[in-house]
Amino acid sequence: MNSPAASDSSAPATRRQFLKQASAATAVTAAATVLKTPVYGQSQAPSTGRVLGANDRLVVAVIGLERGKAHIAGHLGVKNVEIGYVCDVDSNRVAAGQKLVETRKQARAAAGERDFRRLLENKDVDVISIATPNYWHAIMAIMGCQAGKHVYVEKPGSHNPFEAESMVAAAAKHQRVVQMGNQRRSYPMIREAIQRLGEGAIGKVLYSRCWYKAARGGIGQGKPAAVPAHLDWTLWQGPCPERPYVDNLVHYNWHWRWTYGGGEMANNGIHMLDLTRWGLGVEYPVKVSYLGGRYHFRDDQETPDVGTAVFDFGASGASWDQSSCDARKGEQTPAVAFYGDKGSLILSGGNDYTIFDPAGKEVAKQAGGRASDIPHFQNFADAIREGKKLNSPISEGQKSTMLCHLANIAYRTGTVLEVDPKTGRIAKNAAAAKLWKREYRSGWEPKGYVTG
Ligand SMILES: NC(=O)c1ccc[n+]([C@@H]2O[C@H](COP(=O)([O-])OP(=O)(O)OC[C@H]3O[C@@H](n4cnc5c(N)ncnc54)[C@H](O)[C@@H]3O)[C@@H](O)[C@H]2O)c1
Repeated sequence: MNSPAASDSSAPATRRQFLKQASAATAVTAAATVLKTPVYGQSQAPSTGRVLGANDRLVVAVIGLERGKAHIAGHLGVKNVEIGYVCDVDSNRVAAGQKLVETRKQARAAAGERDFRRLLENKDVDVISIATPNYWHAIMAIMGCQAGKHVYVEKPGSHNPFEAESMVAAAAKHQRVVQMGNQRRSYPMIREAIQRLGEGAIGKVLYSRCWYKAARGGIGQGKPAAVPAHLDWTLWQGPCPERPYVDNLVHYNWHWRWTYGGGEMANNGIHMLDLTRWGLGVEYPVKVSYLGGRYHFRDDQETPDVGTAVFDFGASGASWDQSSCDARKGEQTPAVAFYGDKGSLILSGGNDYTIFDPAGKEVAKQAGGRASDIPHFQNFADAIREGKKLNSPISEGQKSTMLCHLANIAYRTGTVLEVDPKTGRIAKNAAAAKLWKREYRSGWEPKGYVTG
């Protein structure tokens, strides 16, 4: 899947047309949500993206402009890539995104946009680069594929298992290059470490443990408030059931509410569990548990601030230990450890690894210098223009994301999940089945890709 081949003959817009449109649109689009309904399903014809060759310039639209600032830097670290558009429902962030592009001395200004659906209609856009909150990832990515765009999408790949499956099916159906933003898949020393695991550096790899620690504060109790003039609250909520605005959700704190995010599991767990799954060489587990709780603050957060998830893959196993509101700053653990019958291998989370023998003696250490996101963006561009293999195609990204979804479902139902290791689907569990997907605002549910 994820072949870069475009699938129809719509003529590419000329550079002149593009420049004309872009300069006209430099100002941020009007605050109102102009397009009232989603554009899902209205144009289900095969994608209309242009065919790109090795020397073609890629025009990227970055959507969601906090993490999106790193996307701007990442894409611009690749030769012959241009940030044509920056998009956010918060016009302050659009302006900041435009300014950031300006400082990078790109030949021309990036145009500002508030409604991402305009980018989908715009034939000049080759790539949408999604750095919005999690509940948007699959929705925007699927709409992007339908519109013929290639997609770089942040981790976690989806908000729930139904969306994970739908997105993989959409990328395949529309033949788009879709890469997930788990950038460690492109760190040279992590790639080398995983290769060494495969070559038997620590013997048979039997178990992996990974950790996350942070000293986050509470978010208090949200109070009803006027929607800030710079925010399109309706389009921020998008596919979620419409709720009154409160003052402690936007930005970032959506992570800790099930409607919008998946807690620390889907925030930082995905990074480390992805490496765990890769190093163990496994796909889906047979059993999953996740126990923990909210111990630190009495506030609006719903997701656990402390917890341990355990994954049984049959012939190997893994755990993820999380402490998000730890009062002790700077407490050190590795990011990921692998244990084999002939030694262990440690990843710090950066661009390095260390190997120990069974006696605990260090036998190899590789430090590759500062970790950079650019190789992941480079790999994405190479896949589009040169047909190179993606380091994190969405089909693989979603398998790792599924570990997070399954663990969160185990936590929310208080059950140990039994899972079909071939499909990732949960066996015999009525409570868990209810969390396979979520409630959508009318018109936003992705339809027609998978059943369930
Ligand atoms: N790969 C990494 O290392 C990494 C690092 C940080 C964040 N992330 C991921 O990036 C995503 C964003 O995280 P963040 O910390 O920037 O969150 P954030 O809440 O600070 O920013 C999200 C932005 O998206 C915007 N947005 C919401 N709906 C939108 C819409 N319909 N159209 C356009 N913009 C919209 C918001 O207004 C906001 O500016 C998350 O999914 C997170 O997991 C990844």
